[in-house]
Amino acid sequence: MVVPGRRVERMDRRSPVLSAETVEFQQHFGISAFSLRHYLADSDLFSLAALEDAAAFWIAHDRPDRFVVSGGQGKTNAKFSEMADRTRIASAIGGLTHSHSYVKISNINAVSSDYQKLLQQALLDVEDLLGQKVLSNVTWAQMTVFISSPNIVTPYHIDHEANFLCQIAGEKDVWLFDPNDRELLPDPEIEKFYLGDLNGAQYREQLGDRGKRFQLAPGVAVHHPPLAPHWVRNGSSVSISVSINFCMTELDRKAHIYQVNSIMRRLGLRPRPPGQSVMSDTLKAGGMRLLCASEPRSYRDVVFSGLDRLRAPYRLASRVLRKPRSNQMGPSSGTRPTKGV
Ligand SMILES: [Fe+2]
Repeated sequence: MVVPGRRVERMDRRSPVLSAETVEFQQHFGISAFSLRHYLADSDLFSLAALEDAAAFWIAHDRPDRFVVSGGQGKTNAKFSEMADRTRIASAIGGLTHSHSYVKISNINAVSSDYQKLLQQALLDVEDLLGQKVLSNVTWAQMTVFISSPNIVTPYHIDHEANFLCQIAGEKDVWLFDPNDRELLPDPEIEKFYLGDLNGAQYREQLGDRGKRFQLAPGVAVHHPPLAPHWVRNGSSVSISVSINFCMTELDRKAHIYQVNSIMRRLGLRPRPPGQSVMSDTLKAGGMRLLCASEPRSYRDVVFSGLDRLRAPYRLASRVLRKPRSNQMGPSSGTRPTKGV
């Protein structure tokens, strides 16, 4: 198995995965959303049969967290869980036309070297389009596939990573917002997100028209800058999308500053947001970095391992003293809760 994350390495050049206007890419990457082309839609690797194989791989390797069926199965859950693995996968995917749910296959790049090569090529394409090094700053990268029912909505949320959402089949509309609009996305909401609250960002109806709509069809991708709020509505048929997302050193550093700020705010202080004081940022990021896993093996390790270590004594004390969770420094954080596109 090819391990993702830090082991993303340079490889021989192959056909590009992503294609864009260089000037537009350099102006907007990491800052604002824009659409581009991709070449994954015709690949056999994203046929339903291949995706069923990938899902079966994770089940066979005892990683049910990497094949998630969300919603729509509630009424038939008992029968569903009793099905043989292969039947269960086929049932979940085949039933998407009517089940009002979605299937998520995480880290598909770790299923086979074919997927891993596509991920690596996509990162090389980003490097070429930017005209500067990217791979050396990537701390974690993964490819995730979403297969979704017609007309379902992925609620408004933010993600840590930079993302290219590539449409393989069906259509969907993605509304993306400015990640630097602090009226739309105040710092305390980003702090909540970096404490592990996936619902940290709150949708503000009166600011809804600040979002930009991107219409995805096979061959079309959209870039999600880190922390860009977004929500998604599927079209009238089953949709297959591939998310190519990655963490970078500078993004992780900013996340760690927000985590320290969240703690400071809970102590009644008013912390400076990242970017306002070099010294303050250095101290916060450096302190949290000392607590982080030195060899991260997951997204959770990259972003949350320092915070998890900091919270460990509070969790232990809570268990010993049987205090309610509200007395802890943040929400409980085992495995990362699943999230949509
Ligand atoms: Fe997302």
